[in-house]
Amino acid sequence: MSRRYVVIGNPVAHSLSPRIHRLFARAAGHAISYETLLAPAFRPAAERFFAAPDSGGANVTLPFKLDAYAWAAEHGSTTVNADEAGAVNAILATPRGPRGDNTDGVGLLRDLQQNLSLPLAGKAVLLLGAGGAARGVLGPLLRAGPRRLTLANRTAERAQELAKAFDGVEPMPLAAVCGGYDVVINATSASALGDGLALPEAAIEGGFCYDMFYRLEADTAFCSWCRERGAAGVADGLGMLIEQAAESYLLWRGVRPDTAPVAAALAHG
Ligand code: ATR
Repeated sequence: MSRRYVVIGNPVAHSLSPRIHRLFARAAGHAISYETLLAPAFRPAAERFFAAPDSGGANVTLPFKLDAYAWAAEHGSTTVNADEAGAVNAILATPRGPRGDNTDGVGLLRDLQQNLSLPLAGKAVLLLGAGGAARGVLGPLLRAGPRRLTLANRTAERAQELAKAFDGVEPMPLAAVCGGYDVVINATSASALGDGLALPEAAIEGGFCYDMFYRLEADTAFCSWCRERGAAGVADGLGMLIEQAAESYLLWRGVRPDTAPVAAALAHG
């Protein structure tokens, strides 16, 4: 049976996931379909999709990752990564109901450590933001074994609150961050909103700066800000997007696709 996969979101029309997963499937020789599913609300859309016998799985994007977690926990099961994140971005259809996973953190780690050759063990890491995007990657970041993991947020209380759930994370107000970080990761929505960050310049000096967001046509605001202020290197989150997709594909199909050809295809438009 040819299995069907979707990415559920709102808006979702511009998602790159269909392109990425179709390239994975073509390379693997798998006959699957992968479409966008624009949903006014998560539950009815997910219930309808997963009721079909040929549904294989789904990705979940904004604004439904928390809803997807609650739904999978209630009707099926969730993985450790999903539990830590409190959010689900990939669901596998199983005979025992939906299995909710979160592949964002593993995707980020793969991009940093494998693609960009930046092993985090023993390193000082600064994570900016304390919303869902930051929460989704904290567990896998900690497991990579950094010497120091600072969580800095504009609203300091949110960083303190989130850090309580993770041993070894040091919360800090964004404006109070000093230098000395090897890797700085932006998980705020400032780039997506086109806003600047009130981050002291010293925080990024000599560090490698990674924006979890991406723009295909140009640098993100965060990447250009860091590039102009002495970052050792910058990268946006396109690699993370492709790697989280590969982890989703692994969950669904049992094979992890080679991501390099897909990254090359997307970079060339
Ligand atoms: P997401 O799920 O994408 O993480 P969110 O929960 O709304 O979205 O969180 C957005 C994050 O970006 C927060 O950490 C927010 O900081 P506050 O908690 O202080 O609001 C951060 N953020 C958004 N715009 C920002 C800006 N211009 N400067 C600094 N931080 C910003």
